[in-house]
Amino acid sequence: MKIKSFKTGIPPLDYALPGGFPLGGAVVIAGEPGSGKSVMVSNLSWNVLRSGGSVIYVNLDDSPDAIIELFTSFGWEPLKYIESRDFKIIDCFSFRLGRLRKSYPGVIAYERLDDMDAVIHDIYEAVSGIDKELKLVVIDSLNELMFRYEMGRVLEIVKTLRALISKGLGASLIMTLHTSTEALGELAAHLEYLVDGFAVTRVEPNMREMGIPLKQLMVRKMRGLPTNSFWIPYVITDEGITSVDTTKLALLLKQKLKEAQAFKVSLQGLQGEGKDRNQ
Ligand SMILES: Nc1ncnc2c1ncn2[C@@H]1O[C@H](COP(=O)(O)OP(=O)(O)OP(=O)(O)O)[C@@H](O)[C@H]1O
Ligand SMILES: [Mg+2]
Repeated sequence: MKIKSFKTGIPPLDYALPGGFPLGGAVVIAGEPGSGKSVMVSNLSWNVLRSGGSVIYVNLDDSPDAIIELFTSFGWEPLKYIESRDFKIIDCFSFRLGRLRKSYPGVIAYERLDDMDAVIHDIYEAVSGIDKELKLVVIDSLNELMFRYEMGRVLEIVKTLRALISKGLGASLIMTLHTSTEALGELAAHLEYLVDGFAVTRVEPNMREMGIPLKQLMVRKMRGLPTNSFWIPYVITDEGITSVDTTKLALLLKQKLKEAQAFKVSLQGLQGEGKDRNQ
């Protein structure tokens, strides 16, 4: 059976997935902190909303405020979709703020987070309040679960989410994970087998050393769909995630090489002066 898929509208991701993103697949985006995972899932959410689908966004890492701010910083307008109930935020973060918590109509907020089954149940409940087709459920991120439960339980939760959302409801499920510790790396390795798709993000290590924080993504697997499985560079601009302008990158590299060359020459000059003084 042919897997249903859709174009994400995010150029580097569409390039990585020439056959599209699986509708009804469970996908993990893993990678180092700050590599753009939250921006990626927000961009995807926005593109789905704009194309007429609905989205449930389970935020475990930050407040709805922060999500709204992130969207707005790219010129996207989440509020009208929150109002029309096409964009449902399930807030599993702000209970920490106590009385300082802001409440938004339409945002489902938790008083505490000790029962993931309740969250899973609410995802299911949220679907019945949505008029348009539910196309995407975002979990940002799985890390919070690792702080709370042992790995077996986290894997069990992911299995349940996959069964309910991607197999039961036919929507795509995308989950982020930052892999900064060994235990998180181990979780990522288990998840890679469990889910339908697995993508990684990073800042290219050699470029980072040169002072160029070039972000890259690689889709390592996508069941039933073709992939271009190599590191694909991307940038985050005012408009969201887009492809790298290779001409600009080449100029930047040239400039950095020039700077390195000038530094080498001045260093040799200083060493020469030192030698002269010692003679
Ligand atoms: N409006 C914007 N314009 C340009 N770049 C932005 C904008 N907003 C965020 N960024 C960039 O996005 C990066 C942060 O991305 P993001 O929060 O998605 O990372 P992450 O992978 O989710 O990190 P973590 O694992 O810590 O959650 C930062 O490096 C920042 O420079
Ligand atoms: Mg994040």
